[in-house]
Amino acid sequence: MATNTMERQSASGKKSDTIVDVIAAEHNRLRALFDRLHAEKDADKKARNDLWAKAKQELLAHHEAEEESLFNALVQTSKDARHESLHAISEHGEHKKVIEQMEAMSPDDEDWDEKFEELRHDVFHHLEEEEEDVLPLVSDVLSDDKARELGAKYREIHKEETGD
Ligand SMILES: [Fe+2]
Ligand SMILES: [Fe+2]
Repeated sequence: MATNTMERQSASGKKSDTIVDVIAAEHNRLRALFDRLHAEKDADKKARNDLWAKAKQELLAHHEAEEESLFNALVQTSKDARHESLHAISEHGEHKKVIEQMEAMSPDDEDWDEKFEELRHDVFHHLEEEEEDVLPLVSDVLSDDKARELGAKYREIHKEETGD
């Protein structure tokens, strides 16, 4: 699976990318953002707040675009794909709850750092699970054309949410 992800990633950036290409590249972007915030614990407040705003926006946009493109299509295919999709969607909801808890705290609070680490851990686990259990299913249950159409749809929704 790791090899496939690497190969697919090199194809990112083209309009004809499949949803698998697009999601693999997006997951790496999310990991980089969350890792930066993790590494820059002692950065000044403004820099951290800006990074957090970006990481939060990107995570929520990813979840929404993924649900409306990939999972919306997968739930209508095999029993297995439906099961994996519902599991992933419920984890998206859990991430949103942790974000809400963080929003109710002050980022200067030590508890905020703990919550951020909890979210980072949960998100990384989620991305890995999707890469291992969901993305390999796509070529079994969806045609290549459909996978490319969903890749374009993901990008469209992501752009509406984030402007890029
Ligand atoms: Fe997801
Ligand atoms: Fe994802």
